[in-house]
Amino acid sequence: MAEDINKTSLYDDVSDLPPLVKSAVNLARRMDFPSSCVPAQGRLLQILAAGREGGRIAETGTGCGVGLAWMVSAVSTATRLISVEIDPERAAACRSLFADCGNVEILQGDWRQIVPHGPFDLAVLDGGGGGKRDGDLPADPTELLVVGGTVILDDMHPALEQWPPARQPAEDTHGRNVNRARDYWFNHPDMLTTEFRIHPIAGAIVATRRGTV
Ligand SMILES: C[S@@+](CC[C@H](N)C(=O)[O-])C[C@H]1O[C@@H](n2cnc3c(N)ncnc32)[C@H](O)[C@@H]1O
Repeated sequence: MAEDINKTSLYDDVSDLPPLVKSAVNLARRMDFPSSCVPAQGRLLQILAAGREGGRIAETGTGCGVGLAWMVSAVSTATRLISVEIDPERAAACRSLFADCGNVEILQGDWRQIVPHGPFDLAVLDGGGGGKRDGDLPADPTELLVVGGTVILDDMHPALEQWPPARQPAEDTHGRNVNRARDYWFNHPDMLTTEFRIHPIAGAIVATRRGTV
């Protein structure tokens, strides 16, 4: 997805949001936070979370809680969700937003803090651990996930039609190189990986840990 798009503003024309998602979007608007997951990604997170009912779900990069709210809205309180945000102000605001959700925990700090809380059934790598940025060492899925567990990364822009990597710029204007993440997740021997479009100009990688449960 093009970097200069205010992704939070893509919710302006969406009316059928779960109440918690609406509250998170309003928080993002109040905090002038443009990087919320897009509505299509939110719906995908909702579906993936519903498939892990009763399990453990992690997210790196809480932002203003929009993606987390989509997932929380999809599961019962038997499902544990833990999200980590490096920005103290956003982490504190999200703690207030999810204060009534006893199954949700928000950590403040670097994404690696979630690792000891795993292994997870689902891990959303939205703020570290995906391996898109120089210096963002991708997560070790054998440490992060149960066998059969899934990671998801969004903002795979440009979409797959521009594969192979040689035809793409190395980095976008935010210092992200989605091909670095593609190389890691598609070539990881422990993962079954795919990528698909969720929006005309955005894609997502979904990768599941191989093995016999
Ligand atoms: C794309 S936004 C997250 C959007 C959010 N997940 C949503 O669904 O609306 C990325 C967030 O990751 C946070 N972040 C960046 N690096 C991080 C790190 N190393 N550890 C934890 N959070 C990080 C940023 O502060 C930012 O709030």
